[in-house]
Amino acid sequence: MIYMDCAASALQRPPAVGGAVLYALDHFGNPSRGAHSPSLDASRLVYGTREKLSRLLGFSSPERLSFTHNATEALNIAINGIFQNGRHCISTVCEHNSVLRPLYRCAKLYGAELTLIGADSEGNINYNDIEKAVRNDTKAIVITHSSNVTGNVTDIPRVSDIARRHSLLLVVDGAQTAGCFPVDIERDGIDIFCFSGHKGLMAPQGTGGIYIREGIDLPPLKTGGSGIQSFNEEHPSSMPEAYEAGTLNSHGIAGLDASLDFILGEGIQKIYGREKELSEHFYNEAKKIKGVKLYGNFGGERTAVVSLNIGDVYSSEVADMLWNDCSVCVRAGAHCAPLMHRTLGTEKQGVVRFSFSYYNTDGEIELALKALRSIAEE
Ligand SMILES: Cc1ncc(COP(=O)(O)O)c(C=O)c1O
Repeated sequence: MIYMDCAASALQRPPAVGGAVLYALDHFGNPSRGAHSPSLDASRLVYGTREKLSRLLGFSSPERLSFTHNATEALNIAINGIFQNGRHCISTVCEHNSVLRPLYRCAKLYGAELTLIGADSEGNINYNDIEKAVRNDTKAIVITHSSNVTGNVTDIPRVSDIARRHSLLLVVDGAQTAGCFPVDIERDGIDIFCFSGHKGLMAPQGTGGIYIREGIDLPPLKTGGSGIQSFNEEHPSSMPEAYEAGTLNSHGIAGLDASLDFILGEGIQKIYGREKELSEHFYNEAKKIKGVKLYGNFGGERTAVVSLNIGDVYSSEVADMLWNDCSVCVRAGAHCAPLMHRTLGTEKQGVVRFSFSYYNTDGEIELALKALRSIAEE
């Protein structure tokens, strides 16, 4: 089997991840809920993982990071918290439904207003339109760091500059970049960064997180046990507990901790560089295949995603052939990004998305290309 669906979820992980989860299952009590070793060991591991994330993602106070179950939960905390009293939001057509649906919901429930910035036929955001969209009541720009359909990376410093000049919050969806693309939250003036653990970070599913800059107070989505201030009727408002009601997934976080050791050890530049090499080679060969159409800007900064179609064949048919005949795992269809597909003109056909990881080999890339060539010939 050749796994090339890493933008959905990692499959190959650093070898220590599985062992770390098993160790945690057998040794961890409830983190932050006791003074005995099993509980303290879990607490220490959770704190250490926050600290490693702060080093990888470029922020100085580990406690500004709350763990969530995925990027979707983190984005819901951010969007519901910011727009609970309405106001105006600027976002883009490149967003995943985990941004769009919470925004549509805030529009319906709280009267929030939304301006969606368009993109060109390669999926490049019309940056010049962002500043034009700013209004007196604009509160935030919510934007993906990289499209899960095209792999194009957003020019965050440019968007951050607009946000800063107009005193807007900058919320970045880092689901496709954390762990596989260099992220520097403080340098780039990102106010809120949301991410998944199970994609580029190669950790177990059920892990993710939200970084919130000091000085931003958002109401929590959930309230409940926090291990501190038990006699307070209100859920604690200090981070990280504010957004961590209930028992944490410390078993999954143990896996994340182990994958962070690997990523920090290898270095993000090395991981990014290798994935880039794999995806560039794939792109350069795929574009030579007759009938193949590629989507995205292949001249700019990108993550290791290559989306394509063969003629006008439905993307799901191509993906089925890749899997049934050649054991290649890819993702077809709409990838939960309806407006991106509308912009690319692929609403009906969808696209076949290949997404690579550090663990893919040159040989696997050749086999996937061979499979693609034979499908295109058919
Ligand atoms: C750009 C983007 N944002 C958000 C998400 C949601 O991530 P999760 O499934 O971890 O909640 C995804 C998932 O594919 C994504 O690609």
